[in-house]
Amino acid sequence: MKTILRMILRSGFCCDTLPALRLFLRGINTPGLRQLLIAARIKFTPDILEGIRRSGLPPSRQGALFSAAMNLFRSGPTFKTTSAGRAPAADRAALEKAGPDGLIAEVGVSDGVSALGLLEARGGRGVLLTDRQDAFRYKDIGPFRVFYDKEDGAVSVKFLFLYLCLGLPAREVPADARSVSLLNPAVAALFPEAKLLPFDIFSGTLPETAAAIKCANVLNKAYFTPAQMKRAVANLHGSLREGGWLIISQSNPRYENGEAYVALRREKDSFILAEERHGHELLPDLRSPLFSGLVLPGGAA
Ligand SMILES: C[S@@+](CC[C@H](N)C(=O)[O-])C[C@H]1O[C@@H](n2cnc3c(N)ncnc32)[C@H](O)[C@@H]1O
Repeated sequence: MKTILRMILRSGFCCDTLPALRLFLRGINTPGLRQLLIAARIKFTPDILEGIRRSGLPPSRQGALFSAAMNLFRSGPTFKTTSAGRAPAADRAALEKAGPDGLIAEVGVSDGVSALGLLEARGGRGVLLTDRQDAFRYKDIGPFRVFYDKEDGAVSVKFLFLYLCLGLPAREVPADARSVSLLNPAVAALFPEAKLLPFDIFSGTLPETAAAIKCANVLNKAYFTPAQMKRAVANLHGSLREGGWLIISQSNPRYENGEAYVALRREKDSFILAEERHGHELLPDLRSPLFSGLVLPGGAA
């Protein structure tokens, strides 16, 4: 029953065109119209992202539309919601702690715009952009476009104006599947060498150890339980050099200046809770027995 409801909620009518997307984005932010659009089951598929990339609009306009469209997609329990300059305090902390040459990795970077501050400060060098999803994969089978949406555990099909979430369990992506890159075109235009690498915070290892890892708006209680977040923190430990920093940040109006972060310094097998700003929601858990052995008290104890 739950699966059928999920299928119905995720299926609908799609019109992957720029005018439709603009109208939809305007409507979805207008009280009253929002409910109407949701009830009308208007959907967009990853094709809209390619449509934006090929639109011929100036890169900054493409970038803004691309990030707005990203807000319509999910990755497992998390939304892809993002914007530039969302976590300036975490950016400053990462830059300061990594020094001029230390590698900074941003994990769960969505389409990459949230790392623009880091890329600009570093002239595009020494910043790795990573996310569990680097692309959406699809294959055309006759008149059907099949999206292998591993993240949601369901395969979806686009046929004419219909977008159907089949509710099938995740399938192996065929070797000849094509990709819709999730790297924001504005980031690609400003920093042609920027790449979005696949990296899962629960299981991945970065290609080289980082001096600082920025993790903004991913390890939130709305998405993960404290026990799950502990698994992610333990895994990220392995991608940091000794003395490296994990900066976990959350952007939310309830915090002073709209952002809170904790900065954990890697020391041998653990982290030291070295710094915190504005009472991040994870702070009580980091100080609780759940994290004992992994996160030790420090300057922010
Ligand atoms: C709300 S967005 C935040 C994007 C960006 N960090 C920001 O602050 O604007 C959450 C992002 O976390 C990513 N994500 C979710 N689970 C993840 C995982 N297990 N490993 C890596 N990234 C993940 C999602 O794909 C999504 O892009």
